[in-house]
Amino acid sequence: MKGIILAGGLGTRLRPLTLVTNKHLLPVYDRPMIYYPIECLRNAGMDEVLIVTGGEHAGDFLKLLKNGKDLGLKTLAYAYQEGEGGIADALKLAEDFADGEKICVVLGDNIIERSIRKAAGDFFTQRTGAKLLLKEVPDPERFGVCRLEGENVVEIIEKPSDPPSNLAVTGIYFYDNTVFEICQTLTPSGRGELEITDVNNAYLERGDLTYDVLEGWWTDAGTHESLYRAATFVAEGGANKMDEVGASR
Ligand code: G1P
Repeated sequence: MKGIILAGGLGTRLRPLTLVTNKHLLPVYDRPMIYYPIECLRNAGMDEVLIVTGGEHAGDFLKLLKNGKDLGLKTLAYAYQEGEGGIADALKLAEDFADGEKICVVLGDNIIERSIRKAAGDFFTQRTGAKLLLKEVPDPERFGVCRLEGENVVEIIEKPSDPPSNLAVTGIYFYDNTVFEICQTLTPSGRGELEITDVNNAYLERGDLTYDVLEGWWTDAGTHESLYRAATFVAEGGANKMDEVGASR
């Protein structure tokens, strides 16, 4: 299974911090933000990673990460997204890299405490479809949110004004290779983007979506409040840090 990190966008919610750099290069306590999704993938056993980014600062990723060896990667590839077409638009650029394999997609501003190694192993043995990692949050209106019937997720609603639950869809997704066919069928949402939530709903409609609830803390870091929270979590509790054997906690 290969890892894809989506690290594009203008980071408008973090201005002025993002006027002269990419959001994912900003510090989160002691490391640049992009280190965390790399460590998340590597700790789950994935050492072939593609970073999709864009904008004027794309070259800085190469300066910082080089070939990824220092972060324990076997392969680090880069793709350049033109424009701001959304998460599912960025994902389209990963098709050649995935080369028919299953993928784990991580949004570059998502930071978690624990390893996702078990979920990755479970998805490896899942024959087809997708797997989501969910987390209960106090502010679901900021995220993709699950509508449940009993234990079953029946719909995912992107940033609902009246959330049907407090179970948010985190930015860590496992997909089989049909994800690229799904991406081709999407049309832009109200905010003019191809939404990852539409991808997930397509798997739901097929009846081919599983989920786990993430253990440990999870935060995004795309607003001033959440960036501050992420730094505090890392400072106080550590985060999915690499160790010598890449073992999970
Ligand atoms: C994106 C997704 C949303 C998901 C969130 C996780 O939102 O669209 O469904 O819950 O990431 O961080 P964005 O941060 O792009 O607004």
